[in-house]
Amino acid sequence: MKISIIGTGNLGTSIAKGLLANDMFTSLYLTKKNISSLNEWQDIPCVSVTNDNIKAVKNSDFIIISVQPNQFEKIANEIKSSITKRHTIISTITGLSINSIESLIGSEISVVRSMPNTAISVGKSVTCLCSNEIGIKQLKVAEAIFNNLGESFLIEEKDMQSATVLCASGIAFWMRLIRATAQGGVQLGFESNQALEMSLNTALGAISLLKTNKSHPEEEIDKVTTPSGCTIKGLIEMENQGLSSALISGLEASYQKINNISNQ
Ligand SMILES: NC(=O)c1ccc[n+]([C@@H]2O[C@H](COP(=O)([O-])OP(=O)(O)OC[C@H]3O[C@@H](n4cnc5c(N)ncnc54)[C@H](OP(=O)(O)O)[C@@H]3O)[C@@H](O)[C@H]2O)c1
Repeated sequence: MKISIIGTGNLGTSIAKGLLANDMFTSLYLTKKNISSLNEWQDIPCVSVTNDNIKAVKNSDFIIISVQPNQFEKIANEIKSSITKRHTIISTITGLSINSIESLIGSEISVVRSMPNTAISVGKSVTCLCSNEIGIKQLKVAEAIFNNLGESFLIEEKDMQSATVLCASGIAFWMRLIRATAQGGVQLGFESNQALEMSLNTALGAISLLKTNKSHPEEEIDKVTTPSGCTIKGLIEMENQGLSSALISGLEASYQKINNISNQ
């Protein structure tokens, strides 16, 4: 595959690492304005580092655009005359609709919109993907790229905002849960570092149980709640304090906010 990444910043670099580790390209162009931070890529076979976006586009079939939302229009105007029907655009730009991309580069080009999360830097991203009509046949390639960096899910574009809340903001929500349980551990007498390690490894264990057993959380909860025991006592108190409803309300509030932002 001939791939270019336009805007090789934090996310672009993570994607490049995933592509390299999984031997996924025959040629890879990496672009950014100031290329000095990409020095370590200069000597890798089949990788070209440049600030020439047009050269990158002309030498690639798949163009991953990973710039900030306000940088996209300038780049689209710069590269659009070099984009042909053989190209597929894969955008990682938060909140940028397929319509907006098409309005700048044309609707006859395959466009895939992706929403990864920050765990992409450690190969554990949940990445949601959708495409325009013509791009449907390229979704398999996009899935392959992002499956090497975690797990990808095909969704409809109308669900992109929900996916952003659940999976991208979701990273922050899970951090709070882990922090809260770690603080609880300190309250119960552990040193802070130890409490954090114990809390996050317990979270990892819980996730592994669900994934390995393909079970529902409630099934695993049943296994640790002895009648009238301490676990059910703790769970009931957490629910009395609004744990589940606080989480669901938080997701809803975040969803309202993202919709307000995109309507502005
Ligand atoms: N980071 C994540 O985990 C994550 C997750 C989901 C979605 N996203 C989205 O992905 C996009 C990129 O995020 P990021 O965190 O990687 O941002 P970033 O670190 O700011 O990277 C953006 C890159 O674009 C480059 N750039 C700007 N103008 C350019 C131009 N004219 N030509 C070529 N390159 C140009 C910048 O290069 P210079 O530094 O040389 O100016 C910079 O390296 C954003 O839209 C973000 O919302 C990111």
